Amino acid sequence: MLAVLFLGASAWAAPAPSEFQKHAALFMQKCSKCHSIGGGQRVGPDLAGVAGRHDKEWIVGFMMDPDSYLQKDAAAKKLLEENHGVRMENTHLTRAEAEGLLEFLKAASGAPPSARREEAVPADEPLFMKVRMPDEGRGVSMPGLALLLLICGATAFAWQSGSRAGAGLLLVAVLATAYWTFGGRRYYQLLGSQQGYQPVQPIAYSHALHAGKLGISCFYCHSSAERSDSAGVPALNVCMNCHIAVRSRAGQKEPSPEIARLVAAWESRGKPSSKSIEWTRIHHLPAYVHFSHRAHIANNIQCQECHGPVQTMERMRQASSLSMGWCISCHREPPQSAPTHWRRALGPLDCAACHW
Ligand code: HEC
Ligand code: HEC
Ligand code: HEC
Ligand code: HEC
Ligand code: HEC
Ligand code: HEC
Repeated sequence: MLAVLFLGASAWAAPAPSEFQKHAALFMQKCSKCHSIGGGQRVGPDLAGVAGRHDKEWIVGFMMDPDSYLQKDAAAKKLLEENHGVRMENTHLTRAEAEGLLEFLKAASGAPPSARREEAVPADEPLFMKVRMPDEGRGVSMPGLALLLLICGATAFAWQSGSRAGAGLLLVAVLATAYWTFGGRRYYQLLGSQQGYQPVQPIAYSHALHAGKLGISCFYCHSSAERSDSAGVPALNVCMNCHIAVRSRAGQKEPSPEIARLVAAWESRGKPSSKSIEWTRIHHLPAYVHFSHRAHIANNIQCQECHGPVQTMERMRQASSLSMGWCISCHREPPQSAPTHWRRALGPLDCAACHW
């Protein structure tokens, strides 16, 4: 899976030498469960800038055989103490692998996370910061435009000099280059996105009415957003807290047929004729992406920042693209409207934070 991710990434990760990718993959496989690069302490220390903390031989030796270092070496013993006695795992690296990983760590780390936000673009910007996604608002590709003009010229020349087959072939190249130049890839990618998706639900439940007009808190129904990865959709019991009594719209005598369906479903539960309500799931990330509501809510990020003006939606729709570029843009540069305490907490940019 990760190998696939890295192959895919090669298309974006600016000039990415294959050694870098090889060791990035090794890092993801063997180290990322305990270490981040610039994302702060995990089980073990943040490895950003580790090359400046010890000499090369020490780091390579420690990576290859942490056990004997932790037993004898004073610096390693001190680290062990700082990490509450949690021991670095022996991952059985060869010397070549350990040296390669050190090179990777040097390339991938930059300014410490706390300094990043203040300095606009540090000279030793970490590599992860340079990865630009196809849908991060990049417009026309200039090298693409130059190439396009060149091939157009060649096509015209081939046609003039009577080579119809050659002109045909070049025309195909013109189309392919145009696709690249004008961000066709971007639109193609966004086609797969579900932004704007607004399916009809089994009951005409309205967020505009409940969260807007009635002012019910989002957490009343999506209580797990604070505690867990998923926000969850409420069980019918939650609706029945009110709808055991509320059977019609305000000011109307006639019972609402929509509420009647809700009540019928609730009353039929556990019976063979049970008609449970199957809400159509709208937001959906691929299985290889890890997303947690809790981490974002704990940072006081409003639901609306990601889900749009939910309290005005008669029918729920997906307001954001949920693409990788969308996640990354906010992690790199949060919106100006964000409160300062949040602007200081930078979201992670290392691949392992979202793909594991
Ligand atoms: C099971 C968790 C774990 C894994 C897996 C792990 N480490 Fe560590 N690492 C630690 C801990 C904990 C420390 C701090 C020393 C200690 O307490 O043992 C550490 C320390 C280090 C240090 C010294 C850091 C410093 O700030 O001085 C380096 C370098 C390092 N690890 C590299 C790696 C590399 C490279 C890998 C993958 C091949 C790896 N580690 C895998 C837990 C781990
Ligand atoms: C009274 C209960 C209730 C309240 C309050 C409520 N919701 Fe919902 N929410 C639901 C139900 C039921 C669904 C599933 C039906 C639908 O999609 O409309 C849902 C669906 C959603 C979805 C889409 C889930 C998916 O399938 O991807 C989002 C996002 C959402 N709510 C956000 C919010 C936000 C933000 C608020 C506060 C402004 C909020 N909700 C308040 C009951 C509630
Ligand atoms: C905190 C109380 C409360 C909860 C919880 C609640 N509702 Fe309501 N709901 C109301 C009230 C009050 C009305 C009527 C409001 C009005 O007409 O102004 C209403 C109206 C409705 C309607 C009116 C439809 C129509 O005829 O236009 C539907 C459908 C509905 N609710 C579904 C749900 C569902 C589904 C849930 C659970 C996810 C739920 N409600 C949870 C209070 C609640
Ligand atoms: C940082 C962006 C972000 C914020 C803030 C956020 N969400 Fe989400 N939400 C998402 C993403 C991304 C998904 C899709 C998750 C998936 O498919 O695993 C999602 C999915 C959902 C779903 C679908 C069901 C589920 O459990 O995943 C609901 C309901 C929901 N969000 C409600 C809320 C509510 C309520 C809040 C505020 C308390 C909120 N969200 C805040 C990004 C966000
Ligand atoms: C509106 C801004 C915003 C958007 C959009 C956003 N994030 Fe974040 N994210 C943050 C911030 C701020 C943090 C820092 C949280 C912290 O350090 O406590 C964060 C932290 C995280 C973390 C680390 C959580 C942890 O456990 O420490 C992960 C993983 C993550 N985001 C994944 C995603 C994914 C995946 C998406 C897209 C589907 C996404 N985020 C979209 C702002 C955002
Ligand atoms: C903040 C979270 C986040 C970070 C950090 C992140 N990704 Fe992603 N990535 C995503 C999300 C979300 C998607 C799914 C996008 C979609 O479905 O359109 C994705 C999709 C992908 C895909 C599949 C793309 C496709 O077109 O299907 C690849 C490959 C990938 N990521 C590689 C990487 C690499 C390599 C890194 C490190 C440079 C990285 N990602 C860092 C969130 C993240």
